Amino acid sequence: MTTVVPVVPDHPAFDQVAGLFDAYRVHYGQPSSPARTASWLRDQLAQHRLAAAAAIRGDQVCGFITVATMPASLRLGTAWSIRDLYVAADHRRTGVARALLHHAILGARVAGARRVSLQTETDNSPALKLYTAIGFTPVAGLDLLNLTLDPLPRDPRDTA
Ligand SMILES: CC(C)(COP(=O)(O)OP(=O)(O)OC[C@H]1O[C@@H](n2cnc3c(N)ncnc32)[C@H](O)[C@@H]1OP(=O)(O)O)[C@@H](O)C(=O)NCCC(=O)NCCS
Repeated sequence: MTTVVPVVPDHPAFDQVAGLFDAYRVHYGQPSSPARTASWLRDQLAQHRLAAAAAIRGDQVCGFITVATMPASLRLGTAWSIRDLYVAADHRRTGVARALLHHAILGARVAGARRVSLQTETDNSPALKLYTAIGFTPVAGLDLLNLTLDPLPRDPRDTA
């Protein structure tokens, strides 16, 4: 049986979620850094910049999802943005991601959000099949644009 539970930093499953989050970062080409990942995730959750839920089977975390709440300015409401979704390789194709998405969508409905949005790579066909099977549709007429920011030079007088 799969149970989906919200995870906060003092949840007993937090360390396992952080470990899986590190595997997710590695999946996307980042170097493994378990301690920094756990610290970053703890901070995001504590500051309510992200909310996370974990899929648990027995005593094992087999997947997680994170969401951020965004203002939906034109309609004066809120929209939920799914930021991260990952299922451990040995638990895939058994409905874990579907359960995590339904949990997030129900949370958005209950909170009165206007929509749930997400983005994925154009060649991520497992994710695209999953999202379209659940009812997500591509947004026509919008491009995603980034401006990469270099860090500001440090003030040499700053010794902190
Ligand atoms: C994409 C991912 C989250 C799917 O997780 P999952 O738990 O295996 O997905 P589910 O078992 O809930 O699949 C639900 C449906 O999605 C579709 N689907 C999922 N994986 C698929 C695959 N590899 N090929 C084709 N369809 C797939 C199917 O329609 C599936 O239903 P079915 O099994 O009844 O045919 C998982 O493969 C993963 O973590 N990938 C790496 C990280 C990633 O890509 N995250 C999403 C980034 S936005």
